[in-house]
Amino acid sequence: MESTIDVSLWRGKEDGHYQNYKVPLRTSQTVLDVVTWVQRNSDPTLSYRFTCRVGMCGSCAMTVNGRPRWTCRTHVSKVVVDGRVQIGPLANLPVIKDLACNMDAFFKKWQRAKGVFAPSKSKADPIEKIAPTSAQRCAADAAIECINCGVCYAACDTVRWDENYLGPAALNRAWTLVNDVRDSGNSGRLAAVAAEGGCHACHSHESCRQYCPNALNPTTSIAGLKRKTTLAYIRGDL
Ligand code: SF4
Ligand code: SF4
Ligand code: FES
Repeated sequence: MESTIDVSLWRGKEDGHYQNYKVPLRTSQTVLDVVTWVQRNSDPTLSYRFTCRVGMCGSCAMTVNGRPRWTCRTHVSKVVVDGRVQIGPLANLPVIKDLACNMDAFFKKWQRAKGVFAPSKSKADPIEKIAPTSAQRCAADAAIECINCGVCYAACDTVRWDENYLGPAALNRAWTLVNDVRDSGNSGRLAAVAAEGGCHACHSHESCRQYCPNALNPTTSIAGLKRKTTLAYIRGDL
């Protein structure tokens, strides 16, 4: 007889419910494979998101047994408990339907944190050489591999309590630009991240670092922003 697992999937919007499905167990099966199996074999109306299936795009993040994860990089064998797994939408974001969240607030906060490169030169200027070992380049490099998956945002207690809080991903992005010597937007950026709901609201408990699938450390980035904005304030620049 074929082995199966009991999969509990969120169905509907915020006021939805978990619904149970039996899914055949496969070797090296990922949580995303399980969701896809249900959509193809049990209920084609199931809504969810994915693109790359290899941990590159960040679109497949969901809550698996209570913890935010990339579902394409999570093997069922690692998370199944007593033959069961529960899969829901990411926390801290409105549910559109089933496993798909509305990411608008998440991306608007990137803009509010001025997480957009502001060039200091034009294409007519010579390309500036940046020493890969310079302290600022190393600080930017340490935080730059973010793929906007929202896992840290879903794990952050401060986002849960305060919907105005910019959150770990937007602040982490701002920190990479603060350290980019080619960027010219730092006065506005520091003011944006120092404002209410910015870096000083972070309580440094590191859920973002703990759950980031890319092993980034937004808490360290936010600590850098706290130092930088405090210094700017003392100098009268903020
Ligand atoms: S910091 Fe990590 S968890 Fe947060 S959005 Fe970027 S890649 Fe995802
Ligand atoms: S350390 Fe800060 S940003 Fe990270 S989860 Fe905690 S409150 Fe959120
Ligand atoms: S589908 Fe792209 S990271 Fe999972």
